[in-house]
Amino acid sequence: MIKNMRQQIVAGNWKMNTTLQEGAELAREIVERLDQPKGLVVFAAPFTHLTTVQTTVKGHINVHLAAQNCHQETKGAYTGEISVDMLASLGVEFVLIGHSERREYFKETNALLAQKVDQALSKGIRPIFCCGEPLKIREKETHVNFVKKQLRESLFHLTPEQFKSVVIAYEPIWAIGTGKTASSQQAQDMHQAIRKAIASKYGKRIANATSILYGGSCNAANAAELFSQPDVDGGLIGGASLKAADFLQIIQALK
Ligand code: 13P
Repeated sequence: MIKNMRQQIVAGNWKMNTTLQEGAELAREIVERLDQPKGLVVFAAPFTHLTTVQTTVKGHINVHLAAQNCHQETKGAYTGEISVDMLASLGVEFVLIGHSERREYFKETNALLAQKVDQALSKGIRPIFCCGEPLKIREKETHVNFVKKQLRESLFHLTPEQFKSVVIAYEPIWAIGTGKTASSQQAQDMHQAIRKAIASKYGKRIANATSILYGGSCNAANAAELFSQPDVDGGLIGGASLKAADFLQIIQALK
């Protein structure tokens, strides 16, 4: 479903973790203990787990499924790849696009990511578009321009109507899996810059309706402080999404 309002979202990116049984148990435990979340909860589970996790989240209107990647072509001879049609047929509503691990290890470029975004939207799947700078760029203080270029080259070809379905996740690479989170002020400054860039392209109304999530060593202890920032609309959580109690606490931290 295409949404057109600013939503608070906590998404768990399980990455290449959990067996099917462990993933099913993790989702079950979280969903059972979920107490009226103030926003959407998203499980970005491995492809192999999606159908099983789908049966667990069915009927929970605030809980949604995401894939961690998709292919840019509709179908065909791409052995080992997964199309958005396949994802849509499972009831997947979101897909992570442009995670820094895919950019780095699988050489995904801004241009390729633009194609993936188009594919996802063509089937009504909402991209959670990941952006963020490496440490080198942060140290040179060119991080805002770096992230703006990522947005421009992968998203800003979209029509306003299409753009309304996109969720942004700002994940500074130096904060991912390092235990070194961005300060809430660093997160707020970048989120505000992202929202400004969206406003100059699509106007203030759309910019204000866009959910911008923070990711990078976000955990049960620091989530409330990060989410309290006016332009931080939730989080994309890696390591801490694999522990039900921690993930539930992060969901509770939504404002
Ligand atoms: P960590 O929360 O483990 O730092 O990972 C963040 C991330 O990459 C989520 O996509």
